[in-house]
Amino acid sequence: MLLWAKHSNASKRFMWKAHHYFDVYERHMARFRQQEGPIVMLEMGVFQGGSLDMWRNYFGPRLELHGMDINPEIIKYDQPPAVQMHIGSQGDDAFLERFVHQLGDKQIDIVLDDAAHQSEMMIKAFQWIYPKLSPNGVYMLEDVATNYNPDLGFYIKEGLRRPGTFIEHSKMLIDELNAFSFKNKSEATAFTRSTDSIHFYDSMVIFERKPRTGASAPVIRGKLDGAQAERSRKKFAPGR
Ligand SMILES: C[S@@+](CC[C@H](N)C(=O)[O-])C[C@H]1O[C@@H](n2cnc3c(N)ncnc32)[C@H](O)[C@@H]1O
Repeated sequence: MLLWAKHSNASKRFMWKAHHYFDVYERHMARFRQQEGPIVMLEMGVFQGGSLDMWRNYFGPRLELHGMDINPEIIKYDQPPAVQMHIGSQGDDAFLERFVHQLGDKQIDIVLDDAAHQSEMMIKAFQWIYPKLSPNGVYMLEDVATNYNPDLGFYIKEGLRRPGTFIEHSKMLIDELNAFSFKNKSEATAFTRSTDSIHFYDSMVIFERKPRTGASAPVIRGKLDGAQAERSRKKFAPGR
């Protein structure tokens, strides 16, 4: 675990992360270290800037790091162009619209949502920012286990299997990921066409992007044989 062993101590500033997150970060982020050119990352939830330092240390000088937080004090971490702070709420449509507008054509490679940990805001930020990811980008959310805590939540109450939580929303996105296989293929969405995989870990959800144009083509090897051959041939491999 390079990130844990070598980079988690990069800062004297406070950082709070669950231990297993480092393994997951590395599994989904390591490939960007090989990327040529700039690596654009957004961390929602800056707090005292400890994790910002870890990302800079891990990705090196090619990292263009954006931090987003509702707390105006984060402006002290602003060092454009390498580190840029955006002050506002991830649950505020007008702010998110401005942020996306400000990005213009720029695409984000890595998003990490470690901000409000409230479902309606997580969903709102996801809806605005997911389309701004690069075609092979990754969107990571941590501390998603807050979704199970019925004492939390602002507009909607969190809780196990409560409609409206981010975790329930991401379960529905599993269907959207598979929409090329629906009877009605027109139900495929922009999410279907741009998402490769969804990963669930303890308290984390990760979306990996990849352009897709339809259900994966079958790979057929060998020759059908035996009693069921004719039936199977017609069904699965006409012409073989
Ligand atoms: C868990 S801390 C972030 C920790 C930091 N990522 C780290 O690893 O050290 C959560 C941060 O989210 C911010 N926050 C809370 N609600 C927010 C919202 N609605 N929009 C943006 N940021 C928010 C808080 O001000 C706080 O700094």
